[in-house]
Amino acid sequence: MSRILRWGLLSTARINRAILTAMPHSPRNVVTAVASRSAARAAAYAAEWKIARTFASYEAMLADPDVDVIYNSLPNALHTEWTLKAVQAGKHVLCEKPLALTVADVDAIAAAAQQAGVVVAEAFMYRHHPQTLRVKEMIGQGAVGEMRLLRGAFSYLLTNRSDVRLLPELGGGSLWDVGCYPISFARFLAGAEPVEVFGWQVSGPSGVDELFAGQLRFANGLLAQVDSAFQLPFRSFMEIAGSERTLTVAAPFKPQTNEELILRHKNDLIEVIKIAGEPLYRGEIEDMADAVLLGKPPRVGLAESRGNVATITALLESAHSNRPVRL
Ligand SMILES: NC(=O)c1ccc[n+]([C@@H]2O[C@H](COP(=O)([O-])OP(=O)(O)OC[C@H]3O[C@@H](n4cnc5c(N)ncnc54)[C@H](OP(=O)(O)O)[C@@H]3O)[C@@H](O)[C@H]2O)c1
Repeated sequence: MSRILRWGLLSTARINRAILTAMPHSPRNVVTAVASRSAARAAAYAAEWKIARTFASYEAMLADPDVDVIYNSLPNALHTEWTLKAVQAGKHVLCEKPLALTVADVDAIAAAAQQAGVVVAEAFMYRHHPQTLRVKEMIGQGAVGEMRLLRGAFSYLLTNRSDVRLLPELGGGSLWDVGCYPISFARFLAGAEPVEVFGWQVSGPSGVDELFAGQLRFANGLLAQVDSAFQLPFRSFMEIAGSERTLTVAAPFKPQTNEELILRHKNDLIEVIKIAGEPLYRGEIEDMADAVLLGKPPRVGLAESRGNVATITALLESAHSNRPVRL
Protein backbone atom coordinates (compact mmCIF):
# COMPACT_ATOMS: atom_id res chain seq x y z
CA MET A 1 0.00 0.00 0.00
CA SER A 2 1.02 3.56 -0.71
CA ARG A 3 2.40 5.52 2.29
CA ILE A 4 -0.05 8.23 1.39
CA LEU A 5 -3.56 7.01 2.02
CA ARG A 6 -5.82 7.45 -0.98
CA TRP A 7 -9.36 8.14 0.21
CA GLY A 8 -12.60 7.53 -1.67
CA LEU A 9 -15.76 9.38 -0.68
CA LEU A 10 -18.80 7.13 -0.61
CA SER A 11 -21.48 9.59 -1.82
CA THR A 12 -21.65 13.33 -2.35
CA ALA A 13 -22.98 14.01 1.16
CA ARG A 14 -22.79 17.51 2.62
CA ILE A 15 -20.53 16.35 5.46
CA ASN A 16 -17.79 15.44 2.93
CA ARG A 17 -16.92 19.13 2.96
CA ALA A 18 -15.43 18.70 6.44
CA ILE A 19 -13.06 15.98 5.25
CA LEU A 20 -12.23 17.75 2.00
CA THR A 21 -11.20 20.95 3.74
CA ALA A 22 -9.14 19.08 6.35
CA MET A 23 -7.27 16.84 3.86
CA PRO A 24 -4.91 19.41 2.28
CA HIS A 25 -3.36 19.92 5.73
CA SER A 26 -2.37 16.27 6.03
CA PRO A 27 0.74 15.02 4.20
CA ARG A 28 -0.33 11.40 4.78
CA ASN A 29 -3.84 11.58 3.29
CA VAL A 30 -5.40 12.59 0.01
CA VAL A 31 -8.91 12.33 -1.44
CA THR A 32 -8.54 10.70 -4.86
CA ALA A 33 -12.05 9.52 -5.68
CA VAL A 34 -15.75 10.12 -5.20
CA ALA A 35 -18.62 7.74 -5.94
CA SER A 36 -22.26 8.64 -6.36
CA ARG A 37 -25.43 6.87 -7.39
CA SER A 38 -25.44 9.37 -10.26
CA ALA A 39 -22.54 9.74 -12.73
CA ALA A 40 -23.47 13.36 -13.36
CA ARG A 41 -23.52 14.18 -9.66
CA ALA A 42 -20.14 12.50 -9.16
CA ALA A 43 -18.65 14.43 -12.08
CA ALA A 44 -20.01 17.78 -10.91
CA TYR A 45 -18.83 17.10 -7.37
CA ALA A 46 -15.35 16.09 -8.53
CA ALA A 47 -15.08 19.24 -10.63
CA GLU A 48 -16.14 21.44 -7.72
CA TRP A 49 -13.68 19.84 -5.27
CA LYS A 50 -10.90 18.97 -7.75
CA ILE A 51 -11.12 15.23 -7.08
CA ALA A 52 -9.18 13.18 -9.63
CA ARG A 53 -11.47 10.21 -10.18
CA THR A 54 -15.20 9.56 -10.20
CA PHE A 55 -17.32 6.43 -10.02
CA ALA A 56 -20.94 6.11 -11.07
CA SER A 57 -21.64 3.47 -8.46
CA TYR A 58 -20.44 2.73 -4.96
CA GLU A 59 -19.53 -0.84 -5.98
CA ALA A 60 -17.19 0.40 -8.72
CA MET A 61 -15.17 2.50 -6.28
CA LEU A 62 -14.91 -0.38 -3.80
CA ALA A 63 -13.51 -2.57 -6.60
CA ASP A 64 -10.75 -0.08 -7.42
CA PRO A 65 -7.30 -1.12 -6.13
CA ASP A 66 -6.11 2.50 -6.04
CA VAL A 67 -8.41 3.44 -3.18
CA ASP A 68 -7.15 2.59 0.33
CA VAL A 69 -9.68 4.20 2.69
CA ILE A 70 -13.41 4.69 2.28
CA TYR A 71 -15.15 7.60 3.98
CA ASN A 72 -18.70 6.35 4.52
CA SER A 73 -20.95 9.40 4.66
CA LEU A 74 -24.18 7.70 3.66
CA PRO A 75 -27.44 8.12 5.62
CA ASN A 76 -27.36 6.25 8.94
CA ALA A 77 -29.28 3.14 7.86
CA LEU A 78 -26.77 2.46 5.06
CA HIS A 79 -23.66 2.61 7.26
CA THR A 80 -23.50 -1.11 8.09
CA GLU A 81 -24.23 -2.43 4.61
CA TRP A 82 -21.60 -0.28 2.89
CA THR A 83 -18.99 -0.51 5.64
CA LEU A 84 -19.26 -4.30 5.38
CA LYS A 85 -18.99 -4.18 1.57
CA ALA A 86 -15.95 -1.89 1.80
CA VAL A 87 -14.28 -4.12 4.38
CA GLN A 88 -14.94 -7.22 2.28
CA ALA A 89 -13.29 -5.38 -0.64
CA GLY A 90 -10.20 -4.94 1.58
CA LYS A 91 -10.69 -1.23 2.31
CA HIS A 92 -10.15 0.60 5.56
CA VAL A 93 -13.24 2.60 6.57
CA LEU A 94 -13.86 5.83 8.42
CA CYS A 95 -17.64 5.68 8.89
CA GLU A 96 -19.80 8.57 9.97
CA LYS A 97 -21.67 8.34 13.26
CA PRO A 98 -23.57 6.28 14.16
CA LEU A 99 -21.47 3.34 12.96
CA ALA A 100 -24.57 1.12 13.01
CA LEU A 101 -28.13 1.02 14.31
CA THR A 102 -27.87 -2.27 16.20
CA VAL A 103 -25.26 -3.92 18.40
CA ALA A 104 -25.43 -7.01 16.18
CA ASP A 105 -24.38 -4.87 13.22
CA VAL A 106 -21.41 -3.42 15.15
CA ASP A 107 -20.38 -6.97 15.98
CA ALA A 108 -20.67 -8.00 12.33
CA ILE A 109 -18.49 -5.06 11.28
CA ALA A 110 -15.91 -5.89 13.96
CA ALA A 111 -15.78 -9.54 12.90
CA ALA A 112 -15.44 -8.64 9.21
CA ALA A 113 -12.73 -6.06 9.90
CA GLN A 114 -10.75 -8.53 11.94
CA GLN A 115 -11.03 -11.18 9.25
CA ALA A 116 -10.01 -8.76 6.48
CA GLY A 117 -7.24 -7.17 8.59
CA VAL A 118 -8.48 -3.63 8.00
CA VAL A 119 -9.22 -0.65 10.24
CA VAL A 120 -12.79 0.53 10.80
CA ALA A 121 -13.42 3.60 12.95
CA GLU A 122 -16.45 5.75 13.70
CA ALA A 123 -16.03 9.41 12.79
CA PHE A 124 -16.66 11.01 16.20
CA MET A 125 -14.47 13.98 15.35
CA TYR A 126 -14.81 15.70 18.74
CA ARG A 127 -13.03 12.76 20.43
CA HIS A 128 -9.74 13.77 18.75
CA HIS A 129 -9.90 17.45 19.65
CA PRO A 130 -7.44 18.80 22.28
CA GLN A 131 -10.35 20.15 24.36
CA THR A 132 -11.91 16.68 24.77
CA LEU A 133 -8.57 15.15 25.70
CA ARG A 134 -7.92 17.98 28.21
CA VAL A 135 -11.35 17.56 29.84
CA LYS A 136 -10.73 13.83 30.26
CA GLU A 137 -7.28 14.52 31.72
CA MET A 138 -8.64 17.15 34.13
CA ILE A 139 -11.38 14.81 35.38
CA GLY A 140 -8.77 12.09 35.92
CA GLN A 141 -6.68 14.54 37.94
CA GLY A 142 -9.64 15.33 40.21
CA ALA A 143 -10.66 18.71 38.78
CA VAL A 144 -14.26 18.28 39.98
CA GLY A 145 -13.53 15.97 42.92
CA GLU A 146 -15.62 12.82 42.65
CA MET A 147 -17.65 12.95 39.43
CA ARG A 148 -21.36 12.54 40.33
CA LEU A 149 -23.65 13.99 37.66
CA LEU A 150 -23.12 14.63 33.96
CA ARG A 151 -25.50 16.69 31.86
CA GLY A 152 -25.21 17.05 28.12
CA ALA A 153 -27.34 18.47 25.34
CA PHE A 154 -27.26 18.84 21.57
CA SER A 155 -30.23 20.34 19.74
CA TYR A 156 -31.05 22.40 16.67
CA LEU A 157 -34.07 23.36 14.61
CA LEU A 158 -34.41 20.99 11.67
CA THR A 159 -36.47 23.05 9.25
CA ASN A 160 -35.98 20.99 6.06
CA ARG A 161 -38.83 18.50 6.39
CA SER A 162 -37.43 16.34 3.55
CA ASP A 163 -34.13 15.74 5.39
CA VAL A 164 -33.12 12.07 5.68
CA ARG A 165 -32.90 12.62 9.45
CA LEU A 166 -36.70 12.52 9.58
CA LEU A 167 -37.04 9.20 7.77
CA PRO A 168 -37.33 6.15 10.04
CA GLU A 169 -36.22 3.82 7.23
CA LEU A 170 -32.92 5.72 6.93
CA GLY A 171 -32.15 5.71 10.65
CA GLY A 172 -33.60 9.12 11.42
CA GLY A 173 -34.31 10.72 14.79
CA SER A 174 -32.54 13.25 16.97
CA LEU A 175 -31.01 10.66 19.31
CA TRP A 176 -29.12 8.94 16.49
CA ASP A 177 -28.25 12.24 14.85
CA VAL A 178 -27.04 14.42 17.73
CA GLY A 179 -27.97 12.68 21.00
CA CYS A 180 -25.16 10.25 20.18
CA TYR A 181 -22.66 13.02 21.08
CA PRO A 182 -23.55 13.70 24.75
CA ILE A 183 -23.99 9.94 25.23
CA SER A 184 -20.54 9.35 23.77
CA PHE A 185 -18.98 12.11 25.91
CA ALA A 186 -20.68 10.86 29.09
CA ARG A 187 -19.53 7.26 28.52
CA PHE A 188 -16.02 8.50 27.66
CA LEU A 189 -15.78 10.46 30.92
CA ALA A 190 -17.36 7.65 32.94
CA GLY A 191 -14.86 5.21 31.48
CA ALA A 192 -17.60 2.60 31.71
CA GLU A 193 -20.90 1.55 30.21
CA PRO A 194 -24.21 2.49 31.87
CA VAL A 195 -26.00 -0.34 33.66
CA GLU A 196 -29.49 1.14 33.27
CA VAL A 197 -31.16 3.81 31.17
CA PHE A 198 -34.52 5.53 30.92
CA GLY A 199 -35.77 7.72 28.10
CA TRP A 200 -38.74 9.71 26.91
CA GLN A 201 -39.28 10.88 23.38
CA VAL A 202 -41.59 13.22 21.52
CA SER A 203 -42.16 11.81 18.04
CA GLY A 204 -42.70 13.81 14.86
CA PRO A 205 -45.16 12.98 12.07
CA SER A 206 -42.84 10.30 10.60
CA GLY A 207 -42.53 8.56 13.97
CA VAL A 208 -38.86 9.37 14.67
CA ASP A 209 -37.95 11.15 17.90
CA GLU A 210 -37.71 14.90 17.38
CA LEU A 211 -37.11 15.52 21.08
CA PHE A 212 -35.48 13.03 23.43
CA ALA A 213 -34.57 13.18 27.13
CA GLY A 214 -32.62 10.30 28.59
CA GLN A 215 -30.99 9.26 31.85
CA LEU A 216 -28.05 6.90 32.33
CA ARG A 217 -27.00 5.19 35.56
CA PHE A 218 -23.50 3.78 35.96
CA ALA A 219 -22.53 1.02 38.38
CA ASN A 220 -20.53 3.36 40.63
CA GLY A 221 -23.56 5.64 41.20
CA LEU A 222 -22.61 8.22 38.58
CA LEU A 223 -25.70 9.58 36.76
CA ALA A 224 -25.99 11.27 33.39
CA GLN A 225 -28.81 13.25 31.80
CA VAL A 226 -28.74 13.82 28.06
CA ASP A 227 -31.10 15.42 25.60
CA SER A 228 -31.31 15.93 21.87
CA ALA A 229 -33.80 17.66 19.62
CA PHE A 230 -34.77 18.84 16.16
CA GLN A 231 -37.44 21.05 17.74
CA LEU A 232 -35.23 23.36 19.82
CA PRO A 233 -32.86 26.10 18.68
CA PHE A 234 -29.16 25.27 18.75
CA ARG A 235 -27.96 24.21 22.19
CA SER A 236 -24.80 22.31 22.97
CA PHE A 237 -23.03 21.84 26.30
CA MET A 238 -21.61 19.32 28.75
CA GLU A 239 -21.69 19.95 32.48
CA ILE A 240 -19.62 17.74 34.76
CA ALA A 241 -20.68 18.11 38.38
CA GLY A 242 -18.50 16.66 41.09
CA SER A 243 -18.21 16.65 44.85
CA GLU A 244 -15.90 19.71 44.84
CA ARG A 245 -16.37 21.65 41.62
CA THR A 246 -18.39 21.82 38.38
CA LEU A 247 -16.77 21.92 34.96
CA THR A 248 -18.79 23.35 32.05
CA VAL A 249 -17.82 22.75 28.44
CA ALA A 250 -19.61 25.33 26.30
CA ALA A 251 -18.73 23.81 22.91
CA PRO A 252 -18.11 20.12 23.57
CA PHE A 253 -19.06 18.57 20.21
CA LYS A 254 -17.93 21.12 17.65
CA PRO A 255 -14.97 22.81 19.36
CA GLN A 256 -12.86 25.22 17.36
CA THR A 257 -9.38 26.65 17.71
CA ASN A 258 -9.98 28.80 20.81
CA GLU A 259 -12.25 27.43 23.50
CA GLU A 260 -12.80 28.06 27.21
CA LEU A 261 -13.74 25.69 29.99
CA ILE A 262 -15.44 27.08 33.10
CA LEU A 263 -14.56 25.56 36.47
CA ARG A 264 -16.87 26.66 39.26
CA HIS A 265 -15.43 26.14 42.75
CA LYS A 266 -17.39 25.52 45.95
CA ASN A 267 -17.08 29.16 47.02
CA ASP A 268 -18.50 30.21 43.62
CA LEU A 269 -15.09 31.31 42.39
CA ILE A 270 -15.03 30.94 38.60
CA GLU A 271 -11.87 29.75 36.90
CA VAL A 272 -11.56 30.04 33.12
CA ILE A 273 -9.30 27.53 31.38
CA LYS A 274 -8.26 28.45 27.85
CA ILE A 275 -7.84 25.68 25.30
CA ALA A 276 -5.76 26.09 22.17
CA GLY A 277 -7.58 23.74 19.83
CA GLU A 278 -7.20 22.76 16.22
CA PRO A 279 -9.55 22.61 13.23
CA LEU A 280 -12.17 20.04 14.18
CA TYR A 281 -11.91 17.41 11.45
CA ARG A 282 -8.13 17.07 11.21
CA GLY A 283 -7.78 14.73 14.18
CA GLU A 284 -9.90 11.89 12.83
CA ILE A 285 -7.93 11.85 9.56
CA GLU A 286 -4.58 11.73 11.33
CA ASP A 287 -5.90 9.08 13.71
CA MET A 288 -6.90 6.96 10.71
CA ALA A 289 -3.43 7.36 9.19
CA ASP A 290 -1.85 6.39 12.54
CA ALA A 291 -4.05 3.29 12.66
CA VAL A 292 -3.52 2.17 9.05
CA LEU A 293 0.11 3.17 8.51
CA LEU A 294 1.54 2.76 12.03
CA GLY A 295 -0.75 0.08 13.45
CA LYS A 296 -1.93 2.22 16.39
CA PRO A 297 -5.38 1.40 17.79
CA PRO A 298 -7.92 3.98 16.58
CA ARG A 299 -8.91 6.44 19.30
CA VAL A 300 -12.58 5.53 18.81
CA GLY A 301 -12.34 1.77 18.83
CA LEU A 302 -15.14 -0.59 17.85
CA ALA A 303 -15.77 -1.51 21.50
CA GLU A 304 -16.48 2.16 22.16
CA SER A 305 -18.81 2.33 19.15
CA ARG A 306 -20.55 -0.79 20.40
CA GLY A 307 -21.14 0.80 23.81
CA ASN A 308 -22.63 3.91 22.25
CA VAL A 309 -24.96 1.95 19.97
CA ALA A 310 -26.00 -0.27 22.90
CA THR A 311 -26.84 2.78 25.02
CA ILE A 312 -28.81 4.49 22.24
CA THR A 313 -30.82 1.37 21.37
CA ALA A 314 -31.58 0.81 25.06
CA LEU A 315 -32.77 4.42 25.43
CA LEU A 316 -35.04 4.03 22.39
CA GLU A 317 -36.36 0.75 23.77
CA SER A 318 -37.08 2.49 27.07
CA ALA A 319 -38.94 5.34 25.37
CA HIS A 320 -41.03 2.85 23.39
CA SER A 321 -41.80 0.59 26.35
CA ASN A 322 -42.03 3.41 28.91
CA ARG A 323 -39.83 1.40 31.27
CA PRO A 324 -36.21 1.58 32.42
CA VAL A 325 -33.94 -0.76 30.47
CA ARG A 326 -30.97 -2.61 31.96
CA LEU A 327 -27.90 -3.16 29.86
N1 LIG B 1 -19.48 14.25 12.10
C1 LIG B 1 -20.21 15.28 11.75
O1 LIG B 1 -19.90 16.43 12.07
C2 LIG B 1 -21.43 15.06 10.91
C3 LIG B 1 -22.15 16.17 10.44
C4 LIG B 1 -23.21 15.93 9.56
C5 LIG B 1 -23.58 14.65 9.23
N2 LIG B 1 -22.88 13.59 9.74
C6 LIG B 1 -23.26 12.21 9.37
O2 LIG B 1 -22.92 12.05 8.01
C7 LIG B 1 -23.88 11.26 7.35
C8 LIG B 1 -24.41 12.02 6.13
O3 LIG B 1 -25.04 13.21 6.56
P1 LIG B 1 -25.30 14.40 5.52
O4 LIG B 1 -26.17 15.39 6.18
O5 LIG B 1 -23.98 14.89 4.99
O6 LIG B 1 -26.12 13.62 4.41
P2 LIG B 1 -26.67 14.12 2.99
O7 LIG B 1 -26.12 15.45 2.62
O8 LIG B 1 -28.13 13.92 3.03
O9 LIG B 1 -26.00 13.08 2.00
C9 LIG B 1 -26.17 11.71 2.05
C10 LIG B 1 -25.68 11.16 0.71
O10 LIG B 1 -25.94 9.75 0.72
C11 LIG B 1 -26.21 9.33 -0.61
N3 LIG B 1 -27.41 8.46 -0.53
C12 LIG B 1 -27.43 7.14 -0.82
N4 LIG B 1 -28.63 6.61 -0.64
C13 LIG B 1 -29.43 7.63 -0.24
C14 LIG B 1 -30.80 7.72 0.07
N5 LIG B 1 -31.62 6.65 0.03
N6 LIG B 1 -31.30 8.91 0.43
C15 LIG B 1 -30.50 9.99 0.49
N7 LIG B 1 -29.19 9.98 0.21
C16 LIG B 1 -28.65 8.80 -0.17
C17 LIG B 1 -26.41 10.56 -1.48
O11 LIG B 1 -25.25 10.68 -2.30
P3 LIG B 1 -25.24 10.28 -3.85
O12 LIG B 1 -26.58 10.64 -4.38
O13 LIG B 1 -24.14 11.09 -4.39
O14 LIG B 1 -24.97 8.81 -3.95
C18 LIG B 1 -26.41 11.71 -0.48
O15 LIG B 1 -25.74 12.85 -0.98
C19 LIG B 1 -24.95 10.90 8.39
O16 LIG B 1 -24.68 9.62 8.88
C20 LIG B 1 -24.73 11.93 9.50
O17 LIG B 1 -25.03 11.39 10.79
C21 LIG B 1 -21.82 13.78 10.56
